[in-house]
Amino acid sequence: MTELTLRGVHKRFGTVDAVKAVDLNVTDGEFVVLVGPSGCGKSTLLRMIAGLEEISGGDIMLDGRSLNAVAPRDRDMAMVFQDYALYPHMTVSENLGFSLKMRDLPADQIYDKVRDVAQMLELEPYLHRKPRALSGGQRQRVALGRALIRDPKVFLFDEPLSNLDAKLRVGMRMEIRKLQAALGTTSIYVTHDQTEAMTMADRIVVLRLGEVQQIGSPNEIYQRPVNSFVATFIGSPPMSLIPATISSDGGGAVLDFGEGHRLPLRAGRVETTRRAGINRVDVGLRSEHISLAGDAADAGTFVSDVVMVEDHGADSMAVVRLGGREVMARVRPGSVRVGETSRRFTVDLNAIHLFHPETGMRLV
Ligand SMILES: Nc1ncnc2c1ncn2[C@@H]1O[C@H](COP(=O)(O)OP(=O)(O)OP(=O)(O)O)[C@@H](O)[C@H]1O
Ligand SMILES: [Mg+2]
Repeated sequence: MTELTLRGVHKRFGTVDAVKAVDLNVTDGEFVVLVGPSGCGKSTLLRMIAGLEEISGGDIMLDGRSLNAVAPRDRDMAMVFQDYALYPHMTVSENLGFSLKMRDLPADQIYDKVRDVAQMLELEPYLHRKPRALSGGQRQRVALGRALIRDPKVFLFDEPLSNLDAKLRVGMRMEIRKLQAALGTTSIYVTHDQTEAMTMADRIVVLRLGEVQQIGSPNEIYQRPVNSFVATFIGSPPMSLIPATISSDGGGAVLDFGEGHRLPLRAGRVETTRRAGINRVDVGLRSEHISLAGDAADAGTFVSDVVMVEDHGADSMAVVRLGGREVMARVRPGSVRVGETSRRFTVDLNAIHLFHPETGMRLV
């Protein structure tokens, strides 16, 4: 059983707090993804776990034992880097076996393990080549193999797929996930790509400016983002955020977006905004919750021109205007055309997110 615990882990570079008091508990066999924009502290946090970067404060524990004073090579973790970090003068076979050789394993055992890992990663045909004679994908496999062969307690990945083209990346992320699941090795994976985070993670840690924003399963983070940053960072296309005023409209409360666009707001939600003492909110809408409506002026619909249409094959994204702001609607291909005027769209009123207009925190 492996349990990795971070308590108040902090990193300061001069006057910059690159990582601010991170608490995280990674359980046995879990695949945790650290995601966030460039410079948010992902690599720094991972490097502190690996022991490659000193921590400025806090504790990192593996199975109840503090790692703070443990050298990187004694942490029983293997790291895979974006730039592969292969030894250029060694063959694939020598690269794979290097860490075992350093541990003075007998040559025949090294040979067996290299062969097993090469088989697992389909690297057998390349064992005698040097890294420069491999494609990017093959190099990344060797880098992966070097981590696998050590059979560590924890895998640490720092954007391992960033140098690969889009198609290869999708294939490799599946493969990494399958291997990891088969081996059951606890893993922490860094990426700035939210799709990678969504598709690979058991749990996602969203970071911004060195601070944890939210920790949760991909589903939790997608369905209930804690603030407008997470809401717009996770999801493709990003969630649209539109400012609105809460006003009453005879029958009940409405979200008034301006330009004559209004959507009903349910009583429970009105109560939440009242408790927060605000009458303005940022309304979050995902594209799948805006769709084409019939012609009837039902509650929950609005009329807009079609600004742009992006075809994705199975469905299309239409850019339309709600209260003067552009939002994405998911529609059937061919159902709307660019430049069309006065089409009616419907909003799934149960799926509306509301955020505080100043703090960005989720209200409902
Ligand atoms: N050795 C260093 N000295 C000073 N500042 C550093 C050092 N390493 C990183 N930083 C700063 O710490 C912050 C976090 O950097 P880090 O490399 O962890 O970001 P990241 O999330 O991995 O970004 P990216 O997605 O671009 O790889 C940045 O502001 C960076 O400039
Ligand atoms: Mg980085």
